[in-house]
Amino acid sequence: MKILMICGSLRKGSFHNQLLNTLPELSPKEMEFVGAPSFSNLPLLNMDDLDAIGFPAQIDALSAAIEAADGIVIAAPEYNHSVPGGLKNALDWISRRSDQPLKDKPVALQSVSPGPVGGARGQMAMRQTLLFFQASVLVKPEVLIGLAPQKFDEMRLVDPKSREFVAAQLVAFADLVQSAKA
Ligand code: FNR
Repeated sequence: MKILMICGSLRKGSFHNQLLNTLPELSPKEMEFVGAPSFSNLPLLNMDDLDAIGFPAQIDALSAAIEAADGIVIAAPEYNHSVPGGLKNALDWISRRSDQPLKDKPVALQSVSPGPVGGARGQMAMRQTLLFFQASVLVKPEVLIGLAPQKFDEMRLVDPKSREFVAAQLVAFADLVQSAKA
């Protein structure tokens, strides 16, 4: 089961990257994780450029990685109660592809925040966007990790309760991925 990990934060010490680092040790053994190609240098979507030049190489690479994966985990922060601009821009580019790689693709969402709400509003905004892609987004268990600085250490999620939530989500996600493959 090939799972692509997309991090919605471009920050080096990102909590979301730390969370993604922890997934292999918490997942069912049939899951294999691979990091998504970078979209950090992506130009802002401009339909004139798309018509004149076509898709940037980073979008070709990201689309191919999504296509090749059996499922996607998107770990993304909430920025101003919504999806971070960089990630939204990448999704907007991908949405213009005729070979739509996210259609029917199993997706699990995870978010982390130093605040108490764990990025819940950003995650809802992400669900709304992914609806239009007709992605198959796992409803629950949800992974929303608040008060982050107390829960990570040495680039990994260490809080026992949060690790339980993540492990339970990955079990449910494995079922969703399995039924999509069947
Ligand atoms: C934030 N942050 C934030 N947190 C939150 O809980 N709700 C919010 O609406 C926002 N808005 C927001 C906007 C912008 C522009 C920034 C930079 C940050 C805080 C955010 O959750 C925090 O910086 C996380 O640590 C970001 O995730 P990474 O980079 O650690 O993965």
